[in-house]
Amino acid sequence: MNLALYREFRPKSFDDVVGQDYIIQTLKNQIKTNRLTHAYLFCGPRGTGKTSTAKIFARAVNCTHSTDGNPCGLCAECVALNEPNTDIVEIDAASNNRVEEIRDLREKVNFPPLIGKYKVYIIDEVHMLTDSAFNALLKTLEEPPKHVIFILATTEIHKLPATILSRCTRFDFKLLPINTLVEHLKNVFSQKNIQCDEKSLHLIAKAGEGSVRDMLSVADSVASFSNYNITIETAEKVIGLSNKDSIKNILLSISSNDTAGLFVNIKQALGSGKNIQVLCKEMADYIKNLIMIKVGVSDYAVLDILPGEFASLADIANKFDINYLKHAFSKFSGIELDLKYSLNPENLFESACLELVDTNSVASPQPTAVKPQPTVTKPAEKIETPKQNQPAQVETKSSNDAERLWGNVLLKVKENNLFALSNALKNVNKVEEIAHKLFIHTNDQSSFETIDNPDRISVLLKMANLFDDSLIAVEIVYDKDSASTQDIKDNLKEVFKNKIKFKE
Ligand SMILES: Nc1ncnc2c1ncn2[C@@H]1O[C@H](COP(=O)(O)OP(=O)(O)OP(=O)(O)O)[C@@H](O)[C@H]1O
Ligand SMILES: [Mg+2]
Ligand SMILES: [Zn+2]
Repeated sequence: MNLALYREFRPKSFDDVVGQDYIIQTLKNQIKTNRLTHAYLFCGPRGTGKTSTAKIFARAVNCTHSTDGNPCGLCAECVALNEPNTDIVEIDAASNNRVEEIRDLREKVNFPPLIGKYKVYIIDEVHMLTDSAFNALLKTLEEPPKHVIFILATTEIHKLPATILSRCTRFDFKLLPINTLVEHLKNVFSQKNIQCDEKSLHLIAKAGEGSVRDMLSVADSVASFSNYNITIETAEKVIGLSNKDSIKNILLSISSNDTAGLFVNIKQALGSGKNIQVLCKEMADYIKNLIMIKVGVSDYAVLDILPGEFASLADIANKFDINYLKHAFSKFSGIELDLKYSLNPENLFESACLELVDTNSVASPQPTAVKPQPTVTKPAEKIETPKQNQPAQVETKSSNDAERLWGNVLLKVKENNLFALSNALKNVNKVEEIAHKLFIHTNDQSSFETIDNPDRISVLLKMANLFDDSLIAVEIVYDKDSASTQDIKDNLKEVFKNKIKFKE
């Protein structure tokens, strides 16, 4: 059974919103002193309370008996606005992103509200609007009718034009610290009568990675699996986190050059169906903690550990040289994404561990994550051993090489079911490699906008690096005018080898 805790526990008043204290206080003050502005921008990571806060605010500005800025929930306005109504309009820009929809909105804003004083438009995922839709919205934002308030919400603030940003009062929602998440989870579990020990609370909260919604989704799965009586064993099983002991054992076998023990420990860590990517992330987090302890951090919240764990971690930290830990940290965090796209992630993880065994026997390990620089001599072993599936490295790549590489990248994108990216990449019409950078060109604006996203670009670079590790960047170029009729004609002529004629 799925409880959908995150739906059930959507905050109903400002006081239910956890962790965003500064934002909530400011909004309440504006309501109490009636100093509202006509456009707000709520930005920040997923599942941190943007939409919930927008909905509360929309009711609070209309409530006639608000207490401390909160909507009372009882007055005629609150009651009416709790039902489906035309005064609080929620628009999902992801599916209504065209200029026509915004024009339609521009006409409708002129009608006065039916229930309260204000009509509130909540435009969610506003970064998905097209350029022309943004322009249309801008006109409304410049001179909105007095009875209208806009709340724009987005996880991708960098995609909004400066003209929009400058017209909004901006609030940055933050990821929540682990302690706040633990407290919130405790509260939710006690209301639902779900038993959970302290360790598991911490584990579930951590799996949320700062997002309340993600944490509650994980909590849902763990609660159902454990039959509402959560123990650390059931929590670990569902979350797939490797427990700290197996991580410690892997690390200790690496540091003592115990290769046989290393394989056994990895097998054990993965034994109960744990995900290798999660294991790798946990290794990196664990090593990061050791580094922090070594440099003198002792605050539990910063270290992200439970009280009582410090002494044993400090013991382990003492066994290692700080440079070795830094090297190991960069190794494990460096392969996290590769694991996701690797055909054999277990081998990749094991080979990373083995490299660490090797470097452990050398006096001062060199980080391997750095890109080859002209002045740096590569370690001999790297030059002698040609890598599998990888073309020999040359300084200047011919356009054929770049295209072959691109073909491989496209296959990887497809293989990994990255549908949106794969579709957008269909409109790439040229690739070239210059100075270890791969430039991909498109003349299709919407494909350009899809690809031009730091996460997607980083995925493309990781994939391209699987075939050519000398590449240092992937850049998407929008060739606005390159789709001239002449170009298209030339292309067709090229393909049909002059078997085609155009009327001039
Ligand atoms: N700050 C918070 N306090 C309490 N609950 C929260 C908070 N943030 C998120 N939640 C929980 O997560 C659910 C989703 O939150 P909400 O829709 O407000 O997030 P969001 O920031 O708009 O996310 P997205 O960027 O994905 O749209 C809520 O129903 C609630 O259960
Ligand atoms: Mg939202
Ligand atoms: Zn009210």
